[in-house]
Amino acid sequence: MNFQKNNKIGLFDSGVGGLSVFVEVKKLLPDMEYFFLADQAHVPYGRKTQKELQDLSARIVKFLLKSDIGILVVACNTATCYALDYLRQVFKIPIIGVVPALKPAAKLTKNNKIAVMSTPATAKSTYLKNLAKKFAKDKEVMLLGCKGLEDAVETLDRKTIKTLLDEYTKDVRDFGADTVVLGCTHYPFLKTEIKIRVGSGIQILDSGRAIAKRTSQLLKDREGRTKSKAIETFYTTGNPQKFSQIASQLLKYKVNSQFARI
Ligand code: DGL
Repeated sequence: MNFQKNNKIGLFDSGVGGLSVFVEVKKLLPDMEYFFLADQAHVPYGRKTQKELQDLSARIVKFLLKSDIGILVVACNTATCYALDYLRQVFKIPIIGVVPALKPAAKLTKNNKIAVMSTPATAKSTYLKNLAKKFAKDKEVMLLGCKGLEDAVETLDRKTIKTLLDEYTKDVRDFGADTVVLGCTHYPFLKTEIKIRVGSGIQILDSGRAIAKRTSQLLKDREGRTKSKAIETFYTTGNPQKFSQIASQLLKYKVNSQFARI
């Protein structure tokens, strides 16, 4: 496939979290055609093995390629950590992964203490550890695996979100970080609630904007642009009614989704 002539953008995540990346990409590229897939039949990815994640991710890419996507955004930190290299070996289209914003965090921190909130799987990944070594070796970095938080965002279970955020942000405060990196794409939807708990002086970074810029760079010619506004197709491997309901709340407009068999 000649991706130069085909700039439809595919994105995927284990669930609704990847929508936080989609929002940023769409802000920068409002006139493109988007295909977003939430693999809710297999959420959370944090409990899968690397082999399972590679297999699921490859099946998703094959599915999205049927819609002629010319560029793929892996809108999931966990899938990026465990499957990005594999996907790049197998598929020839440009693939952008979500990397936790440790590099900018290392530049911004004043007290040299950075907390990375992510799924437990991302927290213990070699990928993230190498990233910390590469970009923040002279900093103290706390890799905080926030078990259950992405599940709670999946269902917008407010009570559980509150309980878990109280617990995890206490860890961040006790550690004394002045910079917090959101290393799971579900968490930007909780940014305000995290900010309230860690305090307004703490900087909170996510990767959405950087992913959007990278996507935009790769689509310089923008051949796939639509006449005016974005065309969006949402798929879930889970329940489309449930996905549409939660996605509509997160995106603040009515979302319709379709079932996808990957
Ligand atoms: N949004 C995914 C991430 O960025 C969550 C992964 C999961 O389902 O565990 O890591």
